[in-house]
This record gives sequence, structure tokens and C-alpha cells, in this order.
Amino acid sequence: MAPVTDRPTAEDVRAPRLLVLEAGVSAGAAILRAAAALGVETYVATHPQMHANYSPELKQLTTGTLCPDFTDATAALDELTAFCHRAEIDGVLACWEFLTPLAARLSAGLGLPGHDPVRAPACRNKRLMSEVFTAHDVPAPQTVAARDPGALARLAHEAGLTYPLVVKPAENAASIGVSVVSDPDHLPDAVRRAGAEAHKLPHGIALDTTLLAQEYIKGPEFSVETLVVRGEVQHVAVTEKFTTGGADRAETGHTVPAALPSGMRQAILDAAGRAVTALGLRDGPSHTEIKLTADGRPYVIEVGARPPGDGIMGLVAEATGVDQARACVETALGVRPDLTPRHHRAAAIRFLFAPHAGTLSRVDVPLRSGHVKEVSVTAVPGDELSAPRDNLQRLGHIILRGMTADEVNDAAAQALAQVQVVMK
Ligand SMILES: Nc1ncnc2c1ncn2[C@@H]1O[C@H](COP(=O)(O)OP(=O)(O)O)[C@@H](O)[C@H]1O
Ligand SMILES: [Mg+2]
Repeated sequence: MAPVTDRPTAEDVRAPRLLVLEAGVSAGAAILRAAAALGVETYVATHPQMHANYSPELKQLTTGTLCPDFTDATAALDELTAFCHRAEIDGVLACWEFLTPLAARLSAGLGLPGHDPVRAPACRNKRLMSEVFTAHDVPAPQTVAARDPGALARLAHEAGLTYPLVVKPAENAASIGVSVVSDPDHLPDAVRRAGAEAHKLPHGIALDTTLLAQEYIKGPEFSVETLVVRGEVQHVAVTEKFTTGGADRAETGHTVPAALPSGMRQAILDAAGRAVTALGLRDGPSHTEIKLTADGRPYVIEVGARPPGDGIMGLVAEATGVDQARACVETALGVRPDLTPRHHRAAAIRFLFAPHAGTLSRVDVPLRSGHVKEVSVTAVPGDELSAPRDNLQRLGHIILRGMTADEVNDAAAQALAQVQVVMK
């Protein structure tokens, strides 16, 4: 006779199931590894062209894959909803920013944890985001929006915006189409760049081609890494973010934590908290970009309702011991994550770029030792490269670790001084 027990049998207990919307982005591998470590089965919604480039590890960490037609958001939602019912999915997580509104609608329809589906488009569309920020008194750059360049220039003038101003597309990412415009002569070129992309390839997601002109906020830049859990905003880290100067603002590196006096750190956290609450974030990760003026006033540049990319979750883990990727998976599955810091150290990433456009001859990089934890070069001799314009021209990265932000920033400067990108 079988023993009588209250404990569930192996057949009763199945692994939790997570659906990730696009894992082929920089946060994807960390999320899939964290899910696997928790014994979670992960399904991935992607595009065939993206999936073809998934690493063997990503494929191995995936239990099942589906490729809905993302060009039709309603059809994609229906297909994903039917799949989630069939596969008994317990949680949904968008790793790619372009799919965050779809993720919010999907999880809400299924009764699963996620962000507010009604306000989710404003987490993607910077015109809507700016309207939400104005309505909720979130400190943010003054913004005007128009479909055509003439109207944009007129609205910017009427709003009292002066040069330099920032021109950007309403819906893109990775600094694509973003320009800091120093004078009216450069406005036509900036507007052309901002309006150049109407669909996000390869998924074919339609982008709002509305143009934005914004007040330029001068000062250092930070991002706030956050988990919202059942409406409770929990900040995991403040990251210092480095970009190119001049007209283009490619991201060149990140340091966790940002070396900041506690008052400024608190002002940044408060601004991020107000921004994510205003945008209806209630269950899941967010990444909020903020610039700080010389007099210590924070301005929210944008919020992404997604895990941070660029290896930032790895930096957070190194610097604080908090497993942010695990926390993202747990939050999606309705499990309260443990976000208690285990230690207070520092970590940084710096991206490598070509000094100017041309053919790559070779890249000399420092060895992995001391503060240098990881060195990766993705370009090969013969590659045609461009100088950094947005985040797409990177040719590698260096990851560093140390005890304090100042220490890793110094180590990063020394490591970068040893990098030589030699062009033909
Ligand atoms: N209003 C602004 N003032 C100053 N810098 C800005 C402003 N808007 C954008 N930037 C710079 O350009 C970068 C990219 O702009 P962002 O709005 O974040 O677009 P994306 O979605 O492409 O990341 C920002 O990280 C920041 O460095
Ligand atoms: Mg940004």
C-alpha cells in the first residue's frame, strides 16, 4: 500500500513556467540563467531571425520557443495569450523594451503580475511619457512633439526652448536618432535622423515617428535600477552612466554604485520613484535614466519598464550581492524577491569603440587580472567600423571590480589607456 502523506508527489509539483518576450538582448542570458537556477522552465517569444543568432547557451536554457507576428500587436497578443493558457505559463517578462507594452497587456489579461497595461505605452513612447511626467509633476526636460520639422521648430520656439536642444524619436532606444543640436543650422539633419526609422527590425514593430525636441539638461547622468513588487518601489542601485559628448550620445560605460553624496543620491531615487509610480509600474523591473544639474536637481530622461541591459545586472550583483535577474524572475512569478544588499563594493563596464570610421586592423586590450574581471572583443580584423554615434558601434567591453566606485573608475581609466584600436 502506498504511504499516506500530505506532501505533494512528483506528479503534483511541476516547475514554474516563465514566458520571456525576446531573450536575444543583453539582459536575456542573465534572466534565463537565473530562471534555470530557480528550477523555472523558460519559454521564449522571439523572431526567427533573432532566434537564429541565439547562442547555444540561450537555446539550451529555453524549454520552448514561439515566433508570433509582432507586426500586428493585437494578433501577437492573441497568439501569446492562447500559448500561455496552453502551456500554463505562470509569469511573463519582457527583456526587450520594444515589447514592454505587449508584456503588460499579456500579463494583465492572464491575471499574472505585471505593469499597468493602460499606462504601459507611456513607458515606451517618450511623447506619452513626457505627458505623464507633466501631469504628475515628475521633474523632466520640457518637451514638445510634432510630426513635421517645421512644426517642431515652431513649437520649440513658442515653448521658449533655446539651443542646445535635444531632438529624438518618440520611440526608439540605444540613443538611435538622438542628437544634441547646438544651433538652428543643425536642426534639419537632427530631425532627419530622428525620423529615419519607422519599424524596429527584425520584429517589424511599428514605431511612432513623432519627433521630440527637448530642453537640454547639462550635468552627469545616472540610472536607477528598480524592482516594483506589488506596487512597492524598491531601488536596487544607482548607476553612474557615461556617454560621448557633442552631438551624439552613445553610452560608453556604467559604474555601480554611482559615487554620490547621500543627499544627491536621495534626490535621484525620489525622482525615479515618482517617475515609475506615475507610469503605473506595479510588478516588475525598471531602469530610469536621470540627469543631475550642477545645483543638484534631477531630471528624468526616460524610464524603461524592463531589466537594465549593458551587463548592469552583473555589476549590481558584483557590487551589492543582490541577484537582480533572479528578482526579476521571482517578481514575474509572484514571488517576493530578497533585495537585501550582501556587501558594498563596486563594479564597472566600459565599452570599446573605433576612434574613427575605417577598417579594423587590430585591437590590443589589457589582460584579465587585478581589477579587470572580463575583457571581450567582438570585432575582428577587416571589420568596417564607425566612430560611436549610438550604442550600435561597440566593438567590445571591459568589466572591472573593486571596493569603491572611485577605485573602479580609476581602474577603468587605466584599463582603457591600455586599449589600442588600430585602424588600417
Ligand atoms: N533632454 C536631454 N538633455 C540632456 N541629454 C539628453 C536628453 N535627452 C537625451 N539625452 C542624452 O541622450 C541619451 C539617449 O537619450 P534617451 O532619451 O535616453 O534615448 P534612448 O531611448 O535612445 O536611450 C541619454 O542617455 C542622454 O545622455
Ligand atoms: Mg536612454
